Amino acid sequence: MIKGEMLYEGKAKKVFATEDPELLIIDYKDDATAFNGLKRGTIAGKGIINNEMSNALMRMLETKGVPTHLVKELSERETLVKRVKIVPLEVIVRNIAAGSFSKRYGIDEGKVFAEPTIEISYKNDALGDPLLNEYHALAMELCTRAELDMIKSYSFKINDELKKFWAGCGVTLVDFKLEFGRLSDGTIVLADEISPDTCRLWDAKTGEKLDKDRFRRDLGGVEEAYREIMGRLKKQLEA
Ligand code: TMP
Repeated sequence: MIKGEMLYEGKAKKVFATEDPELLIIDYKDDATAFNGLKRGTIAGKGIINNEMSNALMRMLETKGVPTHLVKELSERETLVKRVKIVPLEVIVRNIAAGSFSKRYGIDEGKVFAEPTIEISYKNDALGDPLLNEYHALAMELCTRAELDMIKSYSFKINDELKKFWAGCGVTLVDFKLEFGRLSDGTIVLADEISPDTCRLWDAKTGEKLDKDRFRRDLGGVEEAYREIMGRLKKQLEA
């Protein structure tokens, strides 16, 4: 596969064209940002870990009936994916209160919810990804009702499968962010990434944070946490 022109550079990834108009190459960077780009840094080796982890989790989800953009891992940092038009929604699934939810509603971090929740934000950096409800999404024609229903149903299914998987690694899945895309025929598939950048992952016994919150909150041990969580995932895949 020939890596063509760079089409897009995001905060954590670059996207390249290929000779096939339906396929793209994602290239994962070590750059990290938080608070809508206000905080910037580098997490050495992050791109390699996120690439491998996201692909492993998407492969697992495919076996459970969740379609994804994944085609093939090409190298440590590069993956071939199906070209999608990203639905401009950030879908956040939460099992335990943390982060912006705790802040917004005044609920202590760590409070286990009676049932998982979903919230959606408008994927728009200039506006700081504002929270929106389903009526807003439909009014702005960000997606159709059928797409929204499918996205929610996939998101809960993904939560069930990821929770089970991480539990097997001795890790509690607190919350995570998903993005979906449309293939050229309109099919909705999971896109973007699933990684410690986009999930909160706590050690099941100690509650130690094994995700990007270590960077966001200056907790130290960022690289170590990424390596630890990756090590656990690999051990679980081999088991
Ligand atoms: P939040 O509590 O800050 O809203 O974050 C919820 C989850 O979404 C958390 O696992 C981190 C992830 N997330 C992203 O992947 N990208 C983002 O831009 C934000 C704000 C959160």
